[in-house]
Formats: sequence, C-alpha cells, structure tokens
Amino acid sequence: MANREFNWPKGFLWGTATAAHQVEGSNINNWSVWELQTAQHRAKTAKQLHSKLPIWPEIAELATNPDCYVSGAAVDHYRRYEEDFDIIEDLGLNAFRFSIEWSRIEPDEGAWNVAALEHYRAYIASLRRRGIEPVLTLYHWTVPIWFSEKGGFEKGKNIAYFERFAEYILRKLGSDIRYIVTVNEPDSVAGQGYVMLEHPGEKSLIKAAAVYINLFRAHKKVYKIAKKLNKKYMVGFSKTFAYAKAYDDSWLSRTMVWLDNKLRDDLIIRFIGKSTDFIGVQFYFTDQHHGWELVHGNKEVTDMGWDRQPQNLEFVLKRLAWCKIPLIITETGIADRGDRWRKEWIEKTIVSVQHALEAGVDVRGYLYWSLLDNFEWAFGRWPAFGLVEVDYEHGLKRKVRPSARYYAAVVKKALAHAVK
Ligand code: BGC
Repeated sequence: MANREFNWPKGFLWGTATAAHQVEGSNINNWSVWELQTAQHRAKTAKQLHSKLPIWPEIAELATNPDCYVSGAAVDHYRRYEEDFDIIEDLGLNAFRFSIEWSRIEPDEGAWNVAALEHYRAYIASLRRRGIEPVLTLYHWTVPIWFSEKGGFEKGKNIAYFERFAEYILRKLGSDIRYIVTVNEPDSVAGQGYVMLEHPGEKSLIKAAAVYINLFRAHKKVYKIAKKLNKKYMVGFSKTFAYAKAYDDSWLSRTMVWLDNKLRDDLIIRFIGKSTDFIGVQFYFTDQHHGWELVHGNKEVTDMGWDRQPQNLEFVLKRLAWCKIPLIITETGIADRGDRWRKEWIEKTIVSVQHALEAGVDVRGYLYWSLLDNFEWAFGRWPAFGLVEVDYEHGLKRKVRPSARYYAAVVKKALAHAVK
C-alpha cells in the first residue's frame, strides 16, 4: 500500500474533482448547443472510432445512441450535491475541486442570476461545514451562449467579460474560498476545438492560437484581480502535462522530446511568470516520440484506449521542479467502468507524488478525476471516471467503487501521519 512510512506534509490537499457541465445537468451554454448539433454524427461514427476498444461490446448500444452525447440531466449534481458531499466526507477527503457555471450566473449579458449565486453560496458553505477545502474553477470549458456568439475567447477584447464574471464571483463568494483555478486546460480548448473538432470551434490554426493565448491572458488578468481583492487567494491555472519520452535513442526522437517539453510546457510557464501561485497539473498521457511520429503509450490501455502509465506522473512532477512554482495535481484519473485498474492508478499516483516530494518538489495536493461518473464531453456518457459509479438506468443512483475505499484508507493513514 502506498505511503506506509511516509510523513505527508500537513495541509496537503487530498481530494477529488468535477466540472459543472459534466455533472450538474440542465445547463444551457455553448456546449449544450454544440451537443445537439453533433450528437447524431457522434453516434453514427462511434463504431468506426471505438469498436477496437476492448470495452466496445459493453458500450456499443449506448455509444451508438445520440442521447449518449447530450449532457441533459447529467448526473443531477446540481440538486443532489449534498448527497455527493456526504460521500466525499465519508471517504475522509479534505478537498474538492468544482466549477461555477458562468451561464447560470450570467445567463444574459450583464444580468446576474441571484438564485444561482445563492445556490453556489450554499454549495461552498456545505463543503466548509464538512471540513472540505473548496477548490474553485472559474472556467471549465463552458461559457454563456451570448459570450460565444460574441466570439468567445477567440477575441482578446472579450476577456473583459470573463474578468467581470470572475470579479463578481470573488466579491460575492470569495470569503469562503482560498484556492482558485482560473482556466482549465487552454491547450485542450484550442487543440480539440480548433484542430481536432471535438469541442465547440472550427478548423483554424489562427483561431486555435488566439484562443490559447487569450485564455492564458485571461488567467493573468484574473490573477491580478483576485490578488488585489485579497492576498490570501492561491490562484493558479491548470494545464495538461503529458510525460514525453523518446521511443529510441536516436537524435531525432530525443530532440523531439526536448522540443515537446519546451514548447508545450516551459514556454507558457515562462509567459505566466510570476502571475501564478500554483500550477494545476493534469496528467493522463505518456507520449512517445519516435522520430517525427508521436505514439501514445503502450498496450495497456484504459476503457478509452488511453495508455495506462500513472507512474510516469513522477517524472512530470520532477521535471517541473525547475520552475519553483508549487504544484497541485488538479486532475488525474482513469476511465474504468469495471473498476479493474483504478486502485492501481491511484496507488501509483500517490507513490509518484511521494517520490516527487522526497526529491524536494513542492507538491501541495492530489485531486482524483473524478468524483462521479459524468458527461465526458465529446465521448458522451460511456466513459466512467468516477470514484463513485452512477447508475443511469436506475435514477442516477450512486455507488461507491472499491477503489474509492482504497483511496480513503490511504488518505486516512496519510492524515494521521502528517507533519508540518
Ligand atoms: C478535463 C476533464 C475531462 C478529463 C478526462 C480533462 O482534460 O479537464 O473535464 O473529463 O480530462 O478526459
């Protein structure tokens, strides 16, 4: 079992994460519009895309049904959050990352929905009452329709709307918040929306670059606003970090790894400079560079066909030590309906963090993705990332998976042996 003789730092965040659109249900935003436009197509192409996955026989019916790709009621977390927080509390976790849905708070430009605001006030207070540290994300991929109609983050001048939203939230709800993730994975928004066409967007490298840069600019601006309001805030952004390794010893493969690390990670960290209190590390992939080609991982894969090498998080964390910025693992997890590999994923993640801490890397927390099975964006409802299984056939009933119990046992031990 992980962490047998290790003293974890006091205050280390042990938790889990969600994003509003993936769990709440009944959101009307740029994503809900896109889902309706693309659901038929996604259902039609599912066989071609996924039939090679070992899980296919189990998911074929769901994945070929357009309903799978419409978030709809999601897992009704908006109404059932108390029940979900009971589970987090019961697992003994001390942190929870979630996002506030901008489209609920400002459904029309400049019109603030006080009922939605009060909902989130009660939501955060409920976490606090249970001794769970809220980790608030301000942008997890969904925006109000009026904002996307103005061009969303494609246009630099629109950042001001996001700043206004962020300031509103912090002024109204900030007294109960310490950790803030400004923007979630700008790299995914740009790449999947404007190159791969798996998120709202269109094929355009220019727009991809604009969105990417504007989201980081948005981070910087919100960082400034937050720190002006209150120095106590710990403000960061989250980004995907793949472990890049060379497939062979050739000069080209090794140079590609070097370039990958520099261009995908280090450049942006330098651009952010001092405007961040932490970096949210989101780890799912190992990318092998074979000359010019990029080959994903190995033969052991998750339900989604992503490689299963959680242990490589250690190298990502150790490599990031150069920037001397505190790191929080704001996401890492596995799509695993049968809960066959999740325990191993969690254990290897924790060992990785432990090794990084022992090597002097400043890691402040680990938030498993995700608390609940949820709406996995372009993949719809079939991938199951949850510590908690959600039964879509029987009233969205929650069932805690055995791997979650394992995680709880490790956390209990870690908290008991925490040192200053
Ligand atoms: C996103 C999550 C998503 C997860 C698994 C991350 O990139 O932030 O919203 O569910 O990956 O795909």
